Amino acid sequence: MSLSVHIIIASSSGHTQYVSEVLKQSMEGKATVEMTRAEQAEPEDFARGDVLILASGTWNTGGIEGQLNPHMHDLFLKRAAAVDLKGKTCAVIALGDERYHYTARAGEHLSTFVASHGGKECCEKLTIVNEPYGQEDTVKKWGAKFLASIT
Ligand SMILES: Cc1cc2nc3c(=O)[nH]c(=O)nc-3n(C[C@H](O)[C@H](O)[C@H](O)COP(=O)(O)O)c2cc1C
Repeated sequence: MSLSVHIIIASSSGHTQYVSEVLKQSMEGKATVEMTRAEQAEPEDFARGDVLILASGTWNTGGIEGQLNPHMHDLFLKRAAAVDLKGKTCAVIALGDERYHYTARAGEHLSTFVASHGGKECCEKLTIVNEPYGQEDTVKKWGAKFLASIT
């Protein structure tokens, strides 16, 4: 098992954290998965692992709906502003709730970060709308597609 995956997670009520844990379990034996909380992440963390996954819920950060979780927003705007992903293979996980007009739009912001910092998304993003509990199969199926796209 040589593939290493690093996930940078922003999660306030634990949904994104839960999705990342389910993903990690589903890849057991196929990849080693490390996780870093966005609030603790530093620029060098973006270079860790063969593949980087950015995972965030959608928030009304700054009073506007459809934004990144405040911790990811802060990380991108400040500490990671000058990060160069140097062609790194990346993937995106976004959560949201259908009660909001800009449902799960965090995904667009994460993809924009990857593209504008020199990374490459290896597969379609994973989008989880509403509570993730009961949506484990969707996460596992995405995990299999994600692995197939990079191995
Ligand atoms: C203050 C607040 C603002 C939110 N704004 C949005 C939004 O604009 N769009 C959306 O799809 N979901 C929105 N949500 C829902 C969250 O994205 C959703 O509950 C997500 O699963 C939370 O993930 P987390 O527990 O990992 O932070 C919002 C939730 C809160 C508490």
